[in-house]
Amino acid sequence: MKLPRRFFQPLAIGAPAPLRTLPVRLERMIHFVPPHVEKMRSKVPELAKQVDVVLGNLEDAIPIDAKLDARRGFIEMAKATDFGSTGLWIRMNALNSPWALDDLVEIVGAVGDKLDVVMVPKVEGSWDIHYVDQLLAQLEAKAHARKPILIHAILETAEGVKNVEEIAQASPRMHGMSLGPADLAASRGMKTTRVGGGHPDYKVLSDAGSGPRAAAQQDLWHYTVARMVDACMANGIKAFYGPFGDFSDAEACEAQFRNAFLMGCAGAWTLHPTQIAIARRVFSPDPAEVAFARKIIAAMPDGAGAVMIDGKMQDDATWKQAKVLVDLADLVEAKDGAAAS
Ligand code: GLV
Ligand code: MG
Repeated sequence: MKLPRRFFQPLAIGAPAPLRTLPVRLERMIHFVPPHVEKMRSKVPELAKQVDVVLGNLEDAIPIDAKLDARRGFIEMAKATDFGSTGLWIRMNALNSPWALDDLVEIVGAVGDKLDVVMVPKVEGSWDIHYVDQLLAQLEAKAHARKPILIHAILETAEGVKNVEEIAQASPRMHGMSLGPADLAASRGMKTTRVGGGHPDYKVLSDAGSGPRAAAQQDLWHYTVARMVDACMANGIKAFYGPFGDFSDAEACEAQFRNAFLMGCAGAWTLHPTQIAIARRVFSPDPAEVAFARKIIAAMPDGAGAVMIDGKMQDDATWKQAKVLVDLADLVEAKDGAAAS
């Protein structure tokens, strides 16, 4: 483990200094775009006004014979679009694939200053982050980049989950992590073909008695989301739910996103345009909750002591809970308010 004072030194001569705190940004939905499809690229300027993050997907779901076109298409769309306050990310190919190196070399070389975050798939341990960290520093130095590109890990292997804490603290470039339920299910030997969400057979039965037994479906992802949120928040980085594959079931998508939001996640991936509104609704705090949170803050200006509001006890800890909601509401207001005006 490096000494703290060395942890924040650039990893290449001429690379920008690593950030000490994450930029405060609203990232309710990370919207996936397949950049090899011209029709999809042409929608990006409009899309950038509607979502918090546009991500050019280079990895899974991009056909092997379209990998180079996807990379080229991403560079073209990054150059052609003014993203304003909307984030621009890529999901690079896996580190053991034939495309990973050139994804970073070509994209950072061409549009490094526009790129905010590199999402790295199938991260197994801190060694994967260290490799990308060093390579990004070299490429940033070569491109005379002004700001460091951040790293976002996908938590989607059993080994990655085992090493989740060391991944979260591997580098000052760490932006956060997303749960990848499809790869994770395969890696763990889970018996499901679904991408996220529940499974009707994963349930608890009430005790046998006289009448029919009630069954309640359980959340397959609860354990992993909880571990991810704790690892991320303990290190000042952000946790995200990943993909929800059944585009025809908006209700289940909303329920999965909402569980993640309540557990501490900042956002989720949106793979289909209909999921954008769901993510916006779920990852923006409920106005009634925000109004109550503002009452708590107003009643305890210095954040200490105890007061009763509407029959409920408030103290230093509930003041902090209220602050989480109010800070998020202010960010949402700034972004959505500016978009509406
Ligand atoms: C996402 O990449 C997943 O595997 O679920
Ligand atoms: Mg995956």
